[in-house]
Amino acid sequence: MPIRLAVPNEITPGERRIAIDPVVAKRFIDLGVEVRMEKGAALSAHFHDDQFEGVTIIDTPAELYKDADLIFKVQPPTLEELDMIPDGCVMAGFMAPHKNEDITHKMCEKSITSLAMELVPRITRAQSMDALSSQASIAGYKGVLMGADLASVFFPMLTTAAGTIRPAKVIVIGAGVAGLQAIATAKRLGAIVEAYDVRQATKEQCESLGAKFIDTGVSADGEGGYARELTEEEKQQQQAVLDQHLVQADVIITTAAIPGRPSPKIISADVVAQMKVGAVVVDLASEGGGNCELTKPGETIDFESRVTIHGPLNVASQLPVHASEMYAKNLFNLISPFITENGELELDWEDEVISKTLLTCNGEVKSDRYRRVEVTK
Ligand code: NAI
Repeated sequence: MPIRLAVPNEITPGERRIAIDPVVAKRFIDLGVEVRMEKGAALSAHFHDDQFEGVTIIDTPAELYKDADLIFKVQPPTLEELDMIPDGCVMAGFMAPHKNEDITHKMCEKSITSLAMELVPRITRAQSMDALSSQASIAGYKGVLMGADLASVFFPMLTTAAGTIRPAKVIVIGAGVAGLQAIATAKRLGAIVEAYDVRQATKEQCESLGAKFIDTGVSADGEGGYARELTEEEKQQQQAVLDQHLVQADVIITTAAIPGRPSPKIISADVVAQMKVGAVVVDLASEGGGNCELTKPGETIDFESRVTIHGPLNVASQLPVHASEMYAKNLFNLISPFITENGELELDWEDEVISKTLLTCNGEVKSDRYRRVEVTK
């Protein structure tokens, strides 16, 4: 029997993305899958129900979930949503397991097979399924536009009848996917860009995008392409060099994250007090508490009428059309190889991407990184 794929409305406040778009829906239908979507679920991403050709539109979430085999979500399910979801069903989406132990626990109780998009391994074959990357790249782009909007100076150099305008100096901290996109965007807008990352490996990448790399003499290259945590001594050395650059910036975009941990504090209140009047910090690491000591996640602070500190949350959701399209493609690339000729779902547990992305299955937490969630039945 062909499977039923259900895509609900995202109920998390402020979430505008949807886990499917008309193109991906059509591709699943072509594979023999029955695609169902909650009425109006894609409106916040600017897709109308009538653009979803061949998709059955369902009025209520309860009705949608009732006989679903596979569910696509953006945000983790709530406990109330899980109550409506059939036992044993397969679910893919961001699960934020480090924040949601109760949800992981309940998914185990209900024997839900959950694929957590943040666990997709960072291997070459999985790049097309890597939702952390697709969404981070949107955040990097949008973060720079936010910075330009809040700044009181032009980004490009301009030669005008009223004189020559100096280009803005933008510093990007953290040169992962978001940071590199931020560098490219700030360069396109004509700013002078400097960049910094604890991983020396990023120096060449920053330079290839036209940024000058700030060399502090500290390297924190860690396993799997992620940064390791720095020692106290390394942190002080890093800070002293960085601070000299930060106080001269017009706009700072911070993206430095350590997965599953609070974001490192890189811009102290002291440094903010020494920054140029009118300078802006856009803290894209706000979800993890922020890279600036003064950041208030979700808020914009005017520090002593001097520096604006912007702590946006869920930035990818602010570009909902492309964010949804990219996310839906990531899901398609993850799941479609396991749809049989009859439109059935047969996940291959030996497949490296599936086994590493698996959070819960058969009542157990499967991910080594999150096994600490205790399951009592
Ligand atoms: P992330 O969001 O975890 O972190 C952002 C950046 O902040 C990282 O580059 C990290 O080194 C840096 N950072 C951490 N602590 C810092 C500190 N104290 N000061 C300055 N910078 C700091 O990173 P993201 O974007 O998820 O990517 C991490 C890396 O993973 C990529 O650069 C790449 O090497 C690798 N990757 C590989 C992929 C693949 O091969 N499929 C796909 C995507 C990423």
